[in-house]
Amino acid sequence: MNLVEEAIETLKANGRGDFTVPSADLYPYQWLWDAGFIALGWGQVSEGRAWQELFSAFKGQWPDGFLPHIVFHRPDPNYFPGPDVWQTHTVPPTSGITQPPVLATATLILYRQARDRELARNAAEELFPKLMAYHRWLYRARDPEGTGLVSILHPWESGMDNSAAWDEPLGRVLPAELPARRKDTSHVHSSERPSDDEYRRYLSLVVRFRDLRYDPSRLYFESPFRVVDVGFNALLHQANQDLRALAIELGKPTEELDGWIRQGTQAFGRLWDDGEGLYFSLDAIAGSPIRVPTSAAFLPLYAGTPDTTAAQHLAFHLEAWGRAVNFLVPSLAPNHPRFDPRRYWRGPVWLNVNWMIEQGLTRYGHLELARRVREDTLRLLAASGFREYYHPQTGEGLGGRGFAWSAAVALLWFS
Ligand code: DGY
Repeated sequence: MNLVEEAIETLKANGRGDFTVPSADLYPYQWLWDAGFIALGWGQVSEGRAWQELFSAFKGQWPDGFLPHIVFHRPDPNYFPGPDVWQTHTVPPTSGITQPPVLATATLILYRQARDRELARNAAEELFPKLMAYHRWLYRARDPEGTGLVSILHPWESGMDNSAAWDEPLGRVLPAELPARRKDTSHVHSSERPSDDEYRRYLSLVVRFRDLRYDPSRLYFESPFRVVDVGFNALLHQANQDLRALAIELGKPTEELDGWIRQGTQAFGRLWDDGEGLYFSLDAIAGSPIRVPTSAAFLPLYAGTPDTTAAQHLAFHLEAWGRAVNFLVPSLAPNHPRFDPRRYWRGPVWLNVNWMIEQGLTRYGHLELARRVREDTLRLLAASGFREYYHPQTGEGLGGRGFAWSAAVALLWFS
């Protein structure tokens, strides 16, 4: 079998009817940002199935527009923390936090490439108001002060759970008791996963939010973890632009989206560090930048926020990273003292991030570097298959096996 056939088999193997699990053992439900990339992968195989993936993610949407990071479509004892811990009392059961907003982007791409125009038109018409409700929720609940940038309240909301950028803000969260055994480390070696200490703090935030009954106004002001994540905001900024393009295609008004895009474009300046020539997230509680260079620093390229000089600085950093590792893009600067090439978001390469950074580099005309990212991705896929993440020096596959968004990126780039 070749790469493309194997990628299709991987998506099929992870398919559970109308949704797709990221990885059969490790993540047996539907995750929000995974669903966006996975839908794009399905888009190369079956348009109907791709739209279905997005509709399934929206089955978890709450009446106020909130989209949860996990929809627990069917019970599965193999994951912690499951619905019994979250206790959102929703149908279907869901988590109570969100994840990077990529579904508007997935919708626009699927719409534009669709061969079945009628299906695409109907699907986009149905998804558009749901997407608007989610983006409105993000600004209302996560930017109540109207800064133009939204906050995340849990490291899991960044999608880059144990990023070294979260160490200090997470250090302020009191740890909770863990159950006797974590489930994730029975599927993947503990050296490739977040630490127990991090898990205690992740759990403590969940319990805190549950006790506040997930009331967004209270969560924003009472969460001991509140961060303006450069990655989350870059994906939201691009998603706003994509939703605006979709609004135009569908003949809908764009004023609200224009406002978010205008404000966001200006507000991104607050995350730029001129001395370093990099973007950093902000610790909203301490009121200070988190000066840890992660792969999220390059995602504004994908969103189109830097001017060409800033983009040049970013490309310069990425070239330096590329001289230090064999495979771009590591999730943390390879010369950082906390760089750990096997551990989840503290060093390994993630293919969905590569896919977005490559588009950003292309957008700014850094074509050589864009080609390097694409070629490194192909080498990783060829050597190690569809793994969750990869060692940036050896190319070894790490974390979950048969990982759906890695298969989706293979289909997007190489089919
Ligand atoms: C996990 O379980 O590791 C997820 O990333 C959190 O949603």
